[in-house]
Amino acid sequence: MKVDVLLGLQWGDEGKGKVVDVLTPHYDVVARFQGGPNAGHTLEFEGKKYVLRSIPSGIFQHGQVNVIGNGVVLDPVLFREEAESLEQSGIDIKKILKISKKAHLIMPTHRLLDAANEAAKGAGKIGTTGKGIGPTYTDKISRNGLRVGDTVAPDFNSRYAKAKAKHLATLASLGMSDPDITDIEARWLDAIDYLHQYELIDSEHVINRYMREGKKVLCEGAQGTMLDVDFGSYPYVTSSNTVCAGACTGLGVAPRNIGEVFGIFKAYCTRVGSGPFPTELFDETGKRIRDIGHEYGAVTGRERRCGWVDLVALRYAIMINGVTQLIMMKSDVLDDFDTVKACTAYRINGQTVQDFPYDVDGMEIEPVYTEMPGWKTPMSSLTSEDQLPQAFKDYVAFLERELETPITILSVGPDRAQTIVRESR
Ligand code: GDP
Ligand code: IMO
Ligand code: MG
Repeated sequence: MKVDVLLGLQWGDEGKGKVVDVLTPHYDVVARFQGGPNAGHTLEFEGKKYVLRSIPSGIFQHGQVNVIGNGVVLDPVLFREEAESLEQSGIDIKKILKISKKAHLIMPTHRLLDAANEAAKGAGKIGTTGKGIGPTYTDKISRNGLRVGDTVAPDFNSRYAKAKAKHLATLASLGMSDPDITDIEARWLDAIDYLHQYELIDSEHVINRYMREGKKVLCEGAQGTMLDVDFGSYPYVTSSNTVCAGACTGLGVAPRNIGEVFGIFKAYCTRVGSGPFPTELFDETGKRIRDIGHEYGAVTGRERRCGWVDLVALRYAIMINGVTQLIMMKSDVLDDFDTVKACTAYRINGQTVQDFPYDVDGMEIEPVYTEMPGWKTPMSSLTSEDQLPQAFKDYVAFLERELETPITILSVGPDRAQTIVRESR
């Protein structure tokens, strides 16, 4: 049995958490393959709202196994907070969640390094979530990291001390001498003990065994394709591979075992933090999208930058990921607009460009828009495709033509129930 992959096609916050939750009843296993607590995946049902950071979004359905894969970076303190609050909500998280021994640990000093690196960049800062993501992946790639499985080794404490000393030296070179980490370090070491209450697994073996047994596995991505460290708007990206290939490396799934690739996008675009955003709106329309869409970060509460949907970037993301099905989110946010726009090409130095360019940073990009009539109909209470207004159906058909990929699910509100599966596709 092949695994299916679900990932974001824009700059994150497309609504991955909601859709993973909606799709979970069709799966036996949900597995996160990269990222860490920089993610904030929101789920709503039965009048309650949850935000997940490191824990997969498949924990609220019918007891499916959930896996934190080797590609994830885990902060034990934040993980513990998240898990304990879920336990308080009645979720038997210790029973359903397994954690890869190969997942890397975010140390308290990684968070300090994240802050110091940002400060050193000055005006060129990335606008990270401040969760220590970049420094942790840096240690992983430079072969200095600590992994979940290392925490049971007899020499763990000395390895931790060595890594910490190295970080403190770097911090001093960045002007942050002798930071007081006594409290946070004590909490971190406690949280390491807490981790041991979970089943720590060789996730690549476990996932492949599930596949051999015919179990259905859904791989959950974090962030979005345009934040991928290789294909995103570098250097304004995160430090992991958010694209489909990340599911292979982040879970130990062979490329030939990838089945459906669900690509999620919003009916418009948002971005948090710095970096280029060709269709960004600085006017009243951008503000209106932000207000109606409640576009404020789930993790940091920062305002999300808003703009029209960018089909140049989406085509690129579909290509890189091999998307087989598109899922369109938050169309309801545009319900009251007289017209809606989609960027079909860029004008750069007088040339029309269809392929996402090498360097969009600092480049004068003029988006070429197609403007379509709005549907002027509240869609949030609609439950089936045949109830959709004709103008909206025309818009969806236009996007499918432009993107050459079927849109199989439409989300018309934050709640689990506000989801329309298109039987026609
Ligand atoms: P993720 O990081 O991709 O899981 O997305 P986030 O949870 O960070 O951001 C998506 C936000 O949009 C959350 O507040 C969701 O509750 C909300 N949301 C998801 N789908 C819809 C939708 O179709 N319509 C509306 N209005 N809100 C949605
Ligand atoms: P989800 O999974 C939106 C952005 C940050 C910053 C850049 C690098 O909820 O979609 P990092 O802390 O990863 O080093 O920050 O990436 N970023 C996200 N933006 N959604 C996310 O996750 C993000 N995770 C990181 O704002 O610009
Ligand atoms: Mg999010």
